[in-house]
Amino acid sequence: MRMAVPIPFVEGWDLVQTLGEGAYGEVRLAVNRTTDEAVAVKIIEIDRAAAGAGQAVRKEVCVQRMLNHMNVVRCYGHRKDGPTQYIFLEYCSGGELFDRIEPDVGMPERDAMMFFRQLLAGVEYLHGMGIAHRDIKPENLLLDANDFLKISDFGLATVFRVSGRERSINRMCGTLPYIAPEVISKKECRAEPVDIWACGIVLVAMLAGELPWDEPSKNCQEYNDWLSKKCHITPWSKIHPLPLALLTKILEVNPENRATKSIIKKDLWLTKVGQIGSRSSRQVSPICSTFKRHRSASNSLNSDDASRWASSQPEPRLSPNSSTEMSVVALDALLRGYSFSQPLQPDHMLLGSQLQHTQGSSQSPWLRMVKRMTRFWVTTDPDCALQRLRLSCEEMCMTIRPACQNQVTVSTLDRRGNKLIFKVTLLCMDAKVLLDFRLSRGDGLEFKRCFLKIKNDLCDIISKVVATPGLP
Ligand code: ADE
Repeated sequence: MRMAVPIPFVEGWDLVQTLGEGAYGEVRLAVNRTTDEAVAVKIIEIDRAAAGAGQAVRKEVCVQRMLNHMNVVRCYGHRKDGPTQYIFLEYCSGGELFDRIEPDVGMPERDAMMFFRQLLAGVEYLHGMGIAHRDIKPENLLLDANDFLKISDFGLATVFRVSGRERSINRMCGTLPYIAPEVISKKECRAEPVDIWACGIVLVAMLAGELPWDEPSKNCQEYNDWLSKKCHITPWSKIHPLPLALLTKILEVNPENRATKSIIKKDLWLTKVGQIGSRSSRQVSPICSTFKRHRSASNSLNSDDASRWASSQPEPRLSPNSSTEMSVVALDALLRGYSFSQPLQPDHMLLGSQLQHTQGSSQSPWLRMVKRMTRFWVTTDPDCALQRLRLSCEEMCMTIRPACQNQVTVSTLDRRGNKLIFKVTLLCMDAKVLLDFRLSRGDGLEFKRCFLKIKNDLCDIISKVVATPGLP
């Protein structure tokens, strides 16, 4: 049997795979060889980034290092290596919230309620610290191994209160469908209601599987419909009266009349007993098992894979007792970066034919760490899998081109006419091929729609082997 050798990153740490990417650069997973601790590394090439990016990174790190809350991604520190900035973050192995939203359907109401309460707890903490996030959306909400929601990406965050003195925000930033109307219509606005509005849009996405409008402006028909209280049309028609009543308070145009966090916390729907009731927030919700089952089924790993991985490698440790503390010794190497070796192609961990091999297991044990629902196994050879993928993409008028050896980049415009770019990595294992889809740019829900369409097109070659519960 053969085993993939990870790429060394910093002494004692291996960079094993790409977790996400954005305009700033990439986030990769680093695993400590001795302790199995896992850290997400945000890698920003300052040369390539816009002017002022160095200062923006310093601000992001400075803001995030102040924060210590169970619903906020922890920042362990950062380091600079020439033009490259590395930010070391708590690794959230449960993936992104948008991955849990079924397009046009959403998720079970009790799941949405639980995630919303955690989101609110995180936002309340941030605002208490005088920090506004300014880009709350499902793509920036991650889940840890126990499905605890963590607010991430503080690239647009700002300090709006210092020593009890509040300042208004005057920069238009955020993501249009999540942006509050006053950000577009006013020169200055208060920071807290803007984040609250975005939380409301996230709740709509969770309950209906779609976003209510492209932007909250009078040019947008769907927004005007909301202002005219047309709740018989979608997405509102899919939402039960109690959560809809809460949304009416949150998606209030006038920020002065918009529900505050304390009002939201007392809301009838959120305080409904028997839903998430009095369950301690540290307990894992039964909804997580729903997701895990779903996730496993869609990823179709067989029990052979499971036992081989389980016996060959320990599960990488996220942190003791799922707290976010890292061991000082392990972190020291990352932050000081001794024997820093820039990986040439860290994506090798996902690229079958480029893997270095030794005696051992035939698969990368790290693959199981990524709990993405946007992937599936096919039973054909890689050439045929790629051909079918190409056909499916081309049928939808998407452009597909090679990125590197086992990876293609797919680009298209989504239903709103916005750019949507995602990468598909093909990984050969035994007689099967894993197709792993990762959003590069664009809306998470639109990405999920495309993924489901492709998955449907390829359904005749998708492996039907039932997955082992507990594996991603
Ligand atoms: N993608 C972006 N940031 C991440 C993190 N901290 N953990 C897991 N995946 C991520």
